[in-house]
Amino acid sequence: MKKRVLITQHIPETGIRLLEKQFDLVYHDVRQPVQTERLISSCPDADALLCLLSDKITSDFISRLPDLKVIANYAVGVNNIDLHAAKNRKILVCNTPDVLTHATADLALGLLLAVTRQLIPADQFCRRGEFKGWASDLFAGFGLQGKQCGIIGMGKIGTAFAERVKVLGMKVVYSNRNVSGSADSACTFVSLDELIQTSDVVSIHAPLTTETRGIMNLERFLAMKPGSVFLNTGRGELVDEGALVQVLKTGHLFGAGLDVFEREPEIHQDLLSLNNVVLAPHIGSATIETREKMAIMAAQAICDVLNGLTPTNLVLFS
Ligand code: DGY
Repeated sequence: MKKRVLITQHIPETGIRLLEKQFDLVYHDVRQPVQTERLISSCPDADALLCLLSDKITSDFISRLPDLKVIANYAVGVNNIDLHAAKNRKILVCNTPDVLTHATADLALGLLLAVTRQLIPADQFCRRGEFKGWASDLFAGFGLQGKQCGIIGMGKIGTAFAERVKVLGMKVVYSNRNVSGSADSACTFVSLDELIQTSDVVSIHAPLTTETRGIMNLERFLAMKPGSVFLNTGRGELVDEGALVQVLKTGHLFGAGLDVFEREPEIHQDLLSLNNVVLAPHIGSATIETREKMAIMAAQAICDVLNGLTPTNLVLFS
């Protein structure tokens, strides 16, 4: 009998094609999370689960799929999965690292430029027919050359973002769990406090863990330099969104660029009316090429595990 794979939501066709050659698929080809009961009852004997970051894979969920051997998360972050419960059941957990590094760093750069040069309000100004002629202070923004970018979390994406801002003439400091991260020697390791107090731009790329949840709180936002910029392309729960709103409203920060939200997909109501914020709907890795590579990588991990091989992208060894 063929092994069974439960796929919780739509993924690019390339991943599906790889899996259907070998396995029986229960594929929920939808673009919103399916209710847990429906998911489980659709394939209670699943050998493998391919899920998205918006699926909450709790301990209860895991315990109700007794044949499960592997969870392949269609994301690099795995904070949506109860890793402890997976480990207790000796279920392997895989993710999609590397293939999304550059896409996500590009998006962070896009947000940085959009915020500092006020591109969204400038675009709206033109569309409203308000451009009546060149003026010396029209949308005068925030220059980046010679300023300091502080990167919290110097993993692969943080490092790729550092490469990009160095090209803009920025100096890079970073804070990380360990001194090196993957940074090159042109980036300086500093404490989180020093990074926050001295940087003109603070960009967070840390994974969401119990230590990093809410790391950007009101105290830290108030400690940022007046007129500085904050970027988040990591996870919304790294940030106290209410505190961020407060420092944006008072003008303590010049602006913020956000690809992720604390209670995603809900967005803090006040962010919607602030024009010093650029908002994106969690599209850091959303290029056609990257999303296809993520699908192949997640599918390949399932093929490997169900064929007795060790996948390259294991997060958790049981
Ligand atoms: C991830 O992979 O963790 C991103 O947030 C989405 O691609």
